[in-house]
Amino acid sequence: MPEMRTAQRLSARRLADLLGRWRGAGHGYRELAESVSLLVRDGRIVPGMSLPAERPLSETLGVSRTTVAAAYQRLRESGVVHSRRGSGTVVRGSGSTREGLWSGAISGIDLSSACPEPWSGLAALNARAAAEHAGAFKLIGYDTLGLPELRAAIAERYSARGLPTSPEQIMVTLGAQHAIFLIARTLLRRGDRSLIESPSYPHAREALASTGALVAELPVSAGSAAGAGSAQEDGGYDASGLLEIAERTTPKLAYLIPDHHNPTGLRMPDGLKSSLITALAGAGAYVIADETTAELSLGESARITPFAAHAEQRHHQDAILTVGSLGKTVWGGLRVGWIRAAPELIGRLEAARRIGDLGTGTWEQVLALHALNQYDDILAERAQQLTARHRVLVAGLAERLPEWRPSSAVGGVCIWVDIGERVSSRLSRAAAELDLHLPPGPRFGSPGTFERYVRLPFSAPEATLAEAVRRLDQAWRSTTVGAGGTAAPVLTGAVI
Ligand SMILES: Cc1ncc(COP(=O)(O)O)c(C=O)c1O
Repeated sequence: MPEMRTAQRLSARRLADLLGRWRGAGHGYRELAESVSLLVRDGRIVPGMSLPAERPLSETLGVSRTTVAAAYQRLRESGVVHSRRGSGTVVRGSGSTREGLWSGAISGIDLSSACPEPWSGLAALNARAAAEHAGAFKLIGYDTLGLPELRAAIAERYSARGLPTSPEQIMVTLGAQHAIFLIARTLLRRGDRSLIESPSYPHAREALASTGALVAELPVSAGSAAGAGSAQEDGGYDASGLLEIAERTTPKLAYLIPDHHNPTGLRMPDGLKSSLITALAGAGAYVIADETTAELSLGESARITPFAAHAEQRHHQDAILTVGSLGKTVWGGLRVGWIRAAPELIGRLEAARRIGDLGTGTWEQVLALHALNQYDDILAERAQQLTARHRVLVAGLAERLPEWRPSSAVGGVCIWVDIGERVSSRLSRAAAELDLHLPPGPRFGSPGTFERYVRLPFSAPEATLAEAVRRLDQAWRSTTVGAGGTAAPVLTGAVI
């Protein structure tokens, strides 16, 4: 039926919002085309959607209609959109896939993903699990708390790492993002105060904000030797400043990435962990400790003590909700994460969970159980792999872009780089021209911040990273020629 083929139209207002702080003056059709193209690659404008008509868009953006028409023409020529009768200018399916990160043939490079390829032993593990756990297929196939064996294995690992834990304190989730959003929507109400490091993992900020809570910020610096500002700073953390903000904000819920922070790769000093727990939990706040990348160390794979074990008063542990995941260690496609919390909180979360989903698949949990049985070996392999990749990335930057200052990452999957000029969004657009997808710095903070930074993941193979640095260098040269402070689009697509 013809109506079914009519594309969903994006309004001019919505597109203007997606373009962020875009202002017409000084921007030509090329910038507009590139920014729309980035939004398509970012996933915020989806294939099949039709772009606003030229006139309303030119009025909303404050540019001439000729500029919009020329931008649309450019998008058509580059294959991003096509004209469809009755629907106007419609977005085509994007050719880029996340596979680009790991495939031998390097064409498009997607630096919005900091996810390493599947652990090398995964196929064998799957085959072994199928042989040993055929009985799993006789079960209903999903549940909201987790298989008893898996909950016990996760609890045992926490206990071995210095945080005594019982299976009742564990809920298995669909990865860490699911856990963060479930906690946020269970504990926060409109108008509550929440707290997050800045910069931080963007989808956690979105989860907090989606509840209607106010989101205050704890500043974390890049921690580079040359970049650390104040004498009080300890590897990117200004302890007294952070404690003062934590005490002043009195949030209902704080979200922290204490070890191998995304995007800086820094580790919060142990003393600060204890003081923050006292300040936050002592004032009645809940704290999410996101440990998705906590066990990914650079250098020797080190055993990291869980954040909650740093509580000086035992009962403060009950205010901490620790989130973990196999997404970066084993495989992003294994949608298994977990929450460690007081049993009373696990009960509340389980009740809230059923509204949105009915549980984690049994088969994925069986694979997770097998992976945890050999987790130390998996982590050792990852540490070796990521250390080599980090070295290639940092050496490449030192050679080609010596004026950039990378954070002193000690783990995780990315570095945060001070590029010295407020041109991150421009750089991102120039990189896109070279088929290098790079989320601009503002994506990791509140709007308007971090134009002087980019996040660079080192999860891709060495050859891809070397090529990414070469393209960054090229993009940087075109960005800084005649660069000035510009109004640039803040992109809001997926960043993992
Ligand atoms: C800090 C952090 N937390 C959570 C997530 C989401 O992880 P998952 O894939 O387990 O949902 C990511 C993924 O990029 C992350 O970097």
